[in-house]
Amino acid sequence: MSFTVAIDGPAAAGKGTIAKGVAAHFGFAHLDTGLLYRAVGRQTLDGTDAIAAAQALTADELEQGDLRTADIAQAASKVAVIPEVRAALVDFQRAFARRAGGAVLDGRDIGTVICPEAEIKLFVTASAEVRAERRYLELKAKGSDVTQEQVLADVRERDARDAERITAPMKPAEDAVRLDTSDLSIEAALERAVALIESKR
Ligand code: C5P
Repeated sequence: MSFTVAIDGPAAAGKGTIAKGVAAHFGFAHLDTGLLYRAVGRQTLDGTDAIAAAQALTADELEQGDLRTADIAQAASKVAVIPEVRAALVDFQRAFARRAGGAVLDGRDIGTVICPEAEIKLFVTASAEVRAERRYLELKAKGSDVTQEQVLADVRERDARDAERITAPMKPAEDAVRLDTSDLSIEAALERAVALIESKR
């Protein structure tokens, strides 16, 4: 039997950590759907057409090199506005969501478009400043020389592009539970998510 947990929200709100923790706790498979858009975005930086890259994308490409850089994040949010790119990635995500044993998918449109039937929907948010600080510390730990101001500008630009696009904009599903992690440790946020899922299983 399949059981799907949909986790949406803006960059660096804590979705990824919560999704990984939930998957580990319940033994569910986890798909970070941002990696699909990042893998397509990375290819456009080499001059490949975005729609062609999305249509030819394979699971192997999600593990190619470091896709979690600031340049690839920007490229990903640009290809993510193209309806044909989004359409090409739907089947892979839905098949993953329906796998036996349970699945957690995190992204921007999982509860609204990819898995409107998900058993649990979470919308994880935090203030732009808190998110920029978290992302800045992550990038710095990886040796990047970005400044916190650059990261905040980047987070705001991506938020606006993700929320304002016509196709599958980032927004909470009507039946999503909102979790604001601005003043919550990731451990506390994960505990709340686990308790919520336990109550619905
Ligand atoms: O979550 P992450 O920062 O890796 O996502 C990179 C970009 O991919 C986002 O800014 C967004 O534009 C896009 N994305 C999306 N829909 C998803 C996941 C990511 O549009 N489900």
